[in-house]
Amino acid sequence: MTTWHCHDCFHGMPRGATAGGIAVVIDVLRASTTIATAIAAGATAVVPTGDINAARRLAASLPGPTLTGGERGGLRIDQFDLGNSPLEYTPDRVAGRTVVITTTNGTAALAACRDAAVVVIGAIVNRAAVGRAAREEALRLAAPVHLVCAGTDAAVTQEDLLGAGAILEAAAADGDELDPAATRARDLFRKVAGTLAGPALVEAITRSFAASAGGRNLLDIGMEADLPAAAAIDSLDVVPMLDARGSLVDRSLPR
Ligand code: MLT
Repeated sequence: MTTWHCHDCFHGMPRGATAGGIAVVIDVLRASTTIATAIAAGATAVVPTGDINAARRLAASLPGPTLTGGERGGLRIDQFDLGNSPLEYTPDRVAGRTVVITTTNGTAALAACRDAAVVVIGAIVNRAAVGRAAREEALRLAAPVHLVCAGTDAAVTQEDLLGAGAILEAAAADGDELDPAATRARDLFRKVAGTLAGPALVEAITRSFAASAGGRNLLDIGMEADLPAAAAIDSLDVVPMLDARGSLVDRSLPR
């Protein structure tokens, strides 16, 4: 039996809430999706960092080929190699390289979960893989899973709740315990997904994004192509997990 908690926005999370547990950090539009995409494209690691200058310093000090990535206001940061669109993180750009990344909400949500025993990155693109890994870790450690939504600028956003619901729909088993927020997130995903599958499901998720705060921000800056990219449910098998050095590396389970 696994217990699943959902935190609608990490800003409202009580201090120490994730201590000793499994934290799944969810910023569907777009930090989580981008990190999962970078790892799937062969990045050696993704190193999340809170601020721009720290990211620059870290990238300059790390051994091996390193790139800087991330956004402020949704746009690539001045003199950074990459922005925060998952579409930029192709194998030819990132394979064999370490990406130091800083984003407005996603990397801050990650920092808020540092007391968790295990921290993984969850998105819709890797929801089945990350759900399975989180549940296995929860059983191994006899600890709960915390689905930690990043939100946008301290406000709850529907796309992250949808991501939490998608993970629950794939991974929560009969007999698992869901707190009320987790139940709401799963119900939201069921409402959006209905009985759809394949491209029709991706389209339904994309439409739901377009009505969400994070989705509208991206439409406003002309990044609408990122919506279907982030809606490509179960397109990636990677499980980015924080290691002891603070780097996100793939820890997906064998299928
Ligand atoms: C964030 O971390 O705030 C987001 O990923 C924002 C974005 O991608 O524009």
